[in-house]
Amino acid sequence: MPSSRWTTWAWMLLLSGCAMGWPKQSSSATSDIRNCTISPPFLPPTVTDTSAQLNALRQRMQFYNISAYIVPATDAHMSEYIAERDARLAWISSFTGSAGTGVVTTKKAALWTDSRYWTQAERQMDCNWELQKIVWTDSIGEWLLQEIPAGENIGLDPFLFSIDLWNSYARVLQGSSRTLVPIEDNLVDLVWGTQRPPSPTSKIYLLPETFTGSTWQEKVSGIRSQMEKHSRSPTAVLLSALEETAWLFNLRGDDISYNPVFFSYALLTTSDISLFVDRNRLSTETLQSLSAQCPGPLCVQVEEYDQVRASVQAYAQGDVRVWIGTEYTTYGLYGVIPQDKLVESSYSPVMTTKAVKNAKEQTLLRAAHVRDAVAVIQYLLWLEKNVPKGLVDEFSGARYVDKLRREKEHCRGASFETISASGLNAALAHYSPSNVSSRKLSVDEMYLSDSGGQYLDGTTDITRTVHWGEPTPFQKEAYTRVLMGNIDLARLVFPSETSGRVVEAFARRALWEVGLNYGHGTGHGIGNFLSVHEWPVGFQSNNVPLVKGMFTSIEPGYYQEGEFGIRIEDVALVVEAQTKHGAGEKAYLTFEVVSLVPYDRNLIDISFLSEDQIQYLNTYYETIRQRVGPELQRRQLEEEYEWLRRNTQPFSRGTLVAASLGTLAITSLVSTLLPDRQA
Ligand SMILES: *[C@@H]1O[C@H](CO)[C@@H](O)[C@H](O)[C@H]1NC(C)=O
Ligand SMILES: *[C@@H]1O[C@H](CO)[C@@H](O)[C@H](O)[C@H]1NC(C)=O
Ligand SMILES: *[C@@H]1O[C@H](CO)[C@@H](O)[C@H](O)[C@H]1NC(C)=O
Repeated sequence: MPSSRWTTWAWMLLLSGCAMGWPKQSSSATSDIRNCTISPPFLPPTVTDTSAQLNALRQRMQFYNISAYIVPATDAHMSEYIAERDARLAWISSFTGSAGTGVVTTKKAALWTDSRYWTQAERQMDCNWELQKIVWTDSIGEWLLQEIPAGENIGLDPFLFSIDLWNSYARVLQGSSRTLVPIEDNLVDLVWGTQRPPSPTSKIYLLPETFTGSTWQEKVSGIRSQMEKHSRSPTAVLLSALEETAWLFNLRGDDISYNPVFFSYALLTTSDISLFVDRNRLSTETLQSLSAQCPGPLCVQVEEYDQVRASVQAYAQGDVRVWIGTEYTTYGLYGVIPQDKLVESSYSPVMTTKAVKNAKEQTLLRAAHVRDAVAVIQYLLWLEKNVPKGLVDEFSGARYVDKLRREKEHCRGASFETISASGLNAALAHYSPSNVSSRKLSVDEMYLSDSGGQYLDGTTDITRTVHWGEPTPFQKEAYTRVLMGNIDLARLVFPSETSGRVVEAFARRALWEVGLNYGHGTGHGIGNFLSVHEWPVGFQSNNVPLVKGMFTSIEPGYYQEGEFGIRIEDVALVVEAQTKHGAGEKAYLTFEVVSLVPYDRNLIDISFLSEDQIQYLNTYYETIRQRVGPELQRRQLEEEYEWLRRNTQPFSRGTLVAASLGTLAITSLVSTLLPDRQA
């Protein structure tokens, strides 16, 4: 699934004209979106009146002497997915999209979100709220300059803004005599009161050793040795992102949907370890593991979650240096550490170490992908049988693939909300069906399925686009070119430590060649039973250079607004490449695709592919047969096994696509029958 961090939205803006808007069919129907220009305004039934919340918030603002209050969509850990009790923006604005920022002034309320969510915002917000369609962070600051008179204050919760984001607001307002005021009480929470969903109470558990790459003690020692080697000799590392503590201590929880993490912070010093978490939620076994080596440098002291600020502040009084990652540490925590005691980098050493999987973690992730392939193959075969009977819609399809995954060994559910999109709905990169709006799947339309699972050994994410009838020549060309992009990037050989940004154009080249493109990023890192979007790995400018052992998705696409959408997504491991000439001291790298599901033969026009691409595809298909075939047989999924054999037949220049119809593979050696590629 394409990542939705802000850098991706920037792409969407640059590529205007790309199909990131709502399909025409929907936006021309005025009945389901609000109209605030007429009197009285037209409000569809999906809108919620937010007057009461806004009035109450404004009273609080007056009390705190601020003229504007900024409400972000994230939580105190800069999480991409949040718990319900952190859905403050949704509560105050009634907009439920996953990305956005709200600003409430004494008279106005405005919401910024990217183009994926504009129609949704117009469906959910009442006329108290204006929708701002510019997503640059600076545009919020500039709007505040316009709306807030000089000399007045702008309030925000310092625990909901990263240092980087805080600084970007401060830069715009600098010298304007408007002040950013950190208010530690969250004003939305005060107004939300007892209606606010409670803190989670479910157990936090130890991930069994079978599923971990190394013990938490080994991980702690590894981070400490990085501290020693650092030129500024930090005495502590502060961990704020939820995946950081989950990974470091081999613990998991279920505080946030689709993400097996729990609310926590950690302060790891050269001699002590503090884990800030609700102690009551730790299982006995977990407490035993954490305190087995007490007292000593491998003794974990459990402190209350809310104590983190006071503890960090107290620690920072001494002769210490605290290493923080500026992308995930909030301004609220940063503020209690004196400037000269800070050691800053974009990401903490835990974040960058976690990004490189060791041999065991690689084995685990590969194994999870074999089981995941079985689920997706079962789903594709089921669709092939049931779509022609008119028995499947987007929502029932999504539920069925989720069910197939859940039945698999070690599966703990989906890794994100399943995207299941037919026809024009697939032109929206993040469309998910609901039980009230769900399009019927048809042999006359293309269908896009983007889904993933959380398994104890790995997190998966795969997209396949299929057509069961007769695709148009343009659909086939677009699909084949997306596939060529996927292949070209996957088989690329590049020097170690090359930035993903440098190589991502290979995924676009086959599309660019004919004036086509896509408006989202090309891939993202992925965790071992952690986040489906795992930073900082990927192909964007703020991603770290690629090294051996990283996993990333590769997911080019093409979206034809109002008609169809294509995306082909695989997860791949960065491995050493065998090059003809000596590599010198720097290794050369390439990708090993670990997602193991064949592409739709019905949509591939083999005449576009080069010999090298065909050879690559055949080798990949052979790998799928070897790894998934025995697993299907072990599970006695004979029909699926036959499906796999049919769909992984080797391609050659003479292979006609008719093979996909399940009839005899008709091979023609008369290559002159095929369109001349070079012409
Ligand atoms: C709102 O209604 C007016 C008058 O019917 C119309 O001109 C305008 O296009 C509508 N705006 C939207 C956003 O539907
Ligand atoms: C409110 O803030 C303004 C601007 O900082 C200041 O001049 C004024 O004295 C403050 N009022 C109160 C009641 O704190
Ligand atoms: C649709 O889903 C919502 C949210 O999960 C649920 O509250 C509602 O009852 C469902 N409606 C139908 C018709 O199934």
